[in-house]
Amino acid sequence: MINVDEIRKDFPIFKRFEREGIVYLDNAATTQKPRSVIDSVVNFYENHNSNVHRGVYRIGEEATELYNRSRENIAKFVGAKANNIVFVRNATEALNLTASGLVSVMGEGDEVLVSRMEHHSNIVPWQIQAANRKIGLKFIENGERERINWKLIEENLSERTKVVSLTQCSNILGTINDLNDVGMHLHNLGIKFVVDGAQSVPHMPVDVKKLKCDLMAFSGHKMLGPSGTGCLYGTEEILNEMPPYMGGGEMIREVYEDHFVSAEVPEKFEAGTPNIEGAIGLSAAVDYLRKIGMENIRDHEKEIISYILKREDELNMDDLVSYGPRDPEYRAGIFTFNIKKKVEGDRPFGNEVHPHDISHMADKIEGVELRSGHHCAMPMTVALGVYATARASFYIYNDMKDADRLFESIQKIEKRMIVK
Ligand SMILES: Cc1ncc(COP(=O)(O)O)c(C=O)c1O
Repeated sequence: MINVDEIRKDFPIFKRFEREGIVYLDNAATTQKPRSVIDSVVNFYENHNSNVHRGVYRIGEEATELYNRSRENIAKFVGAKANNIVFVRNATEALNLTASGLVSVMGEGDEVLVSRMEHHSNIVPWQIQAANRKIGLKFIENGERERINWKLIEENLSERTKVVSLTQCSNILGTINDLNDVGMHLHNLGIKFVVDGAQSVPHMPVDVKKLKCDLMAFSGHKMLGPSGTGCLYGTEEILNEMPPYMGGGEMIREVYEDHFVSAEVPEKFEAGTPNIEGAIGLSAAVDYLRKIGMENIRDHEKEIISYILKREDELNMDDLVSYGPRDPEYRAGIFTFNIKKKVEGDRPFGNEVHPHDISHMADKIEGVELRSGHHCAMPMTVALGVYATARASFYIYNDMKDADRLFESIQKIEKRMIVK
C-alpha cells in the first residue's frame, strides 16, 4: 500500500504547497517531480554534460552511456526493448510521428478509426494527414459514454479500416478502456493498432506485449519525468516500415548530394540533438514509480476515486453534475464535473458556474488547483452537451483529505454562485 505522507517528503515542491495550503489536482496535465528526478538532471549538467553519439572523449562517452541506459530502463518499464523506444518531446509528438508514418503507407480511401474520447493529439494529427492523402477519419459510434471494448470496435470497422488508434484511458472521463484482446483481433485482420498511453502508463501496469499494440505514445512529464519528455513505442517491424519523420543529424547513416541512407531505429526518428537530461530524468522517474509498484499506484487511485464517488452520492448536491463511469474498476483517478442546476430555471443568471470560475474560485477559496476548459477533448465535451468542465485529477501524492478539500471547495462555490 502507498504511504502518501512518506511520498510527499520526496517532492520538494510540497514544502511550498504545505506553507500555502495548496492541493494540486491537475496531474492529468502534468505531475510534480521527486527529488531523485531533479537530482539526476542536475547531476547530468554538473558532471557529464556533453552531446551524445558524437564525441569519443570521456564525458561524451559518459553522456551517451547514461542516455542509452535510460532508454533501456524506460523500455523495460513498458515491457519493450531499447530499440523499440523513440524519444520524443511528449505524447503529442509521438502521435504526430505515428500518423505521419502510418498514413504514408496507406492508400486513398483507406480509413483510420478513433473514438470521441480521444485527446486532440489523437485526432488532429490524423486529420492533418488524412486531408493530405484523402484518408477517411471515422469515430466510433456510441462510444461517448461506454467503455470501449472489442465488440464496439468491431461494429465500427469497415473493409477500408487500416488503423485503429485509441486511448487506453480518457483524460476527461477517466474511463479505462478494455483493450485487452483488441490487439489480437486487429492483428488477425491485418489492421494496425495504436494506443495512446498518456493517461495509462503513469497510473497502472502497462505491457506493450500484452496489449499487442503496434505503436504506443506516452508522456514522460505525466509520470514524474521532466517536461519535454515523451516516448513512442513501436514494434521493430512497424518502425522499420515507417519513413523518417524529420531529417537532419543523428537520423542518418550516410548522406550524398542526391539521397541519404537512414540510421537504424530508433535513431532514424530522432533528428538533431536530443533532450539528454530529459531522458535521464525520465529514467529516474521510472525507477521511482517501480519502487512504489504500478499495481499499488492503480489500487491507490482506485481507492481515491471510489471515495470520491461515494462522497458525491452521500452529499447528493442539487447542482453538481459529474461525468464518467461509476464503476471504480474501470475508472481512473479523474473527476470531471460542472456546478450547474440539473434542471435549469428561468433565471438568466445563477443557474451555473463557468468552469474557469470554478477553477479560479477553488484556488482562491480552498487552494485547490483544478483544470477547466475542454481538456483538449472537444469532441467528447460536445458529446457531453456542455462547452467546458472542471477536472480534478489525482496521483500518488494525493489522498482522501485532498478529495475532501475538493468537495469543500465545490460546496462553497455552489453556495456563493448558484441562486436558490
Ligand atoms: C489522453 C492524452 N493523450 C495525449 C495527451 C498529450 O500529451 P502531451 O501534452 O504530453 O503531448 C494528453 C495530455 O493531456 C492526454 O491526456
